[in-house]
Amino acid sequence: MKRAITLILTLLMLCACTEKRQNYIIGVSQCSEDSWRQKLKEELEIATYFNPNVQLIFTSANDDSKQQERQIDSLISQGVDLLIISPNQLETLSDNIDRVYDSGIPVILFDRKSNSSKYSAFMGTDNYQIGEMMGHYLAGVLDYKGKVAEIGGLQGSSPAEERHNGFVDAISTYPEIELVAFASGDWTQESGYRAMKEILVGYQGEIDAVFGGNDRMAVGARNALRESGRDSGEVIYLGVDALPGKDGGISQVADSILYASAIYPTHGDELMLLSLDILEGREYPRETIMKSSIVTFDNAEVLLLQHEEVVRQANYLHTMHDQAGKMRESMKLQQIIIGLMLLMAVVVSILLSVYVRAYRQKRHFSLLLQEEKEKVERQRDELEDQRDKLIELSIGLKGVEDDSEATDPGGRNNREFMQKFNSVVEKSLSDPEISVEDISTELCMSRVQLYRKVKAISGKSPVEIIRQIRLAKADKMLNETSMNISEIAYKVGFSSASYFTKCYRDYFDRLPTDVHRA
Ligand code: FRU
Repeated sequence: MKRAITLILTLLMLCACTEKRQNYIIGVSQCSEDSWRQKLKEELEIATYFNPNVQLIFTSANDDSKQQERQIDSLISQGVDLLIISPNQLETLSDNIDRVYDSGIPVILFDRKSNSSKYSAFMGTDNYQIGEMMGHYLAGVLDYKGKVAEIGGLQGSSPAEERHNGFVDAISTYPEIELVAFASGDWTQESGYRAMKEILVGYQGEIDAVFGGNDRMAVGARNALRESGRDSGEVIYLGVDALPGKDGGISQVADSILYASAIYPTHGDELMLLSLDILEGREYPRETIMKSSIVTFDNAEVLLLQHEEVVRQANYLHTMHDQAGKMRESMKLQQIIIGLMLLMAVVVSILLSVYVRAYRQKRHFSLLLQEEKEKVERQRDELEDQRDKLIELSIGLKGVEDDSEATDPGGRNNREFMQKFNSVVEKSLSDPEISVEDISTELCMSRVQLYRKVKAISGKSPVEIIRQIRLAKADKMLNETSMNISEIAYKVGFSSASYFTKCYRDYFDRLPTDVHRA
């Protein structure tokens, strides 16, 4: 039984042991909210499908460094295990990031940098290289000759500075390419529009091309130029990001709104893997640099088609994730049911073992009781026999007084007396307590008188006659009824079936089972 319970408990424990992985909270502090960051968010969320032990908390600072500081504090107070941060500006958040890092929370700088070296890893694209690549590309498009305006990204943010530096370094290698104007935006389309308006006020000359720090600002600048009538359709606009999707840079290139754009990848899946490597103590690279490339009119359609395929696959993933969620729920339910069933099995086994024990004890006690009963019954009969013998002895000493009837044992009076005696015995046949005293009282005579009379008539003691009557009745019942031996024994006044069997065998020289009907 113990073994069965141990087995069941082990099974129960196995059921309870679902995949146990440590849970992590990853805080993602975004500097702004736009479609590029939305894409990253979706990729990170899809990555949690494969890492359900990861909980993500996103915040977005709307290009406000102060707000981002507060949001970082709030993420820390929510107990994040790792912080992914795109710092709005290089300088403003450095102290804040240092504090987080010093408190032992790993920090991943993503896309943008800070001035501090206190971070666990950096993942992003080489923005200087992007600026440089776009500078060389533009020079080629312009046939190495022309006037260029630049709309830089948010001042003080690392991609803005690096893209600008790379672009300037590249075009300055072409003596006939001239950077005629520069103004900063804040990465939004409106800021690109405003910056270009600003440029147009101070610069009255021709503009052959505009390099926007990102696609949105390039489109804003284009709107401003077109609005002012200084672009008759000849100006070349370049941007950065090349997002897929309806209003993304790739579509804008395909629609010839932009001439070209540099891909600025997000790779949320890789970012998740890097985070887990850090959290789980595996080796990881301190710098992960993603590759970029130029989207032009020639490859934009292909890229859009590829993106459609990616979206389709992502939709499959969402569906599979939903289905897996449902399956997980039903598995949980099944585990609960199995757990309950095993618990019930344990309870039933315990109850069963208690019952079996109680039953065995009861049988043991009832056997003891039977033995006791048999003993008592035999002793009682022996006592009755002894008393009859004493009576016989006392009569022997005093002489038989009642011999008138004894001289005629078959006489009418004697027959009538014996019939009466028989009927008194039969009336109380099933009473094992009936004694010779009771019968003599019933017959209105003393025990000695009864003894003398019965002995004189039958030659046997009343005890012997009573037993004979009982056994004869039992024999009849064994032959004629379907009652079992115990029932018959009780019916004829034996409280112990085994004692009855012994008396029966002594008297009839056979066993009750030899004649029993059944
Ligand atoms: C999105 C964004 C992109 C740009 C990047 C630079 O928030 O403005 O358009 O390439 O950030 O960090």
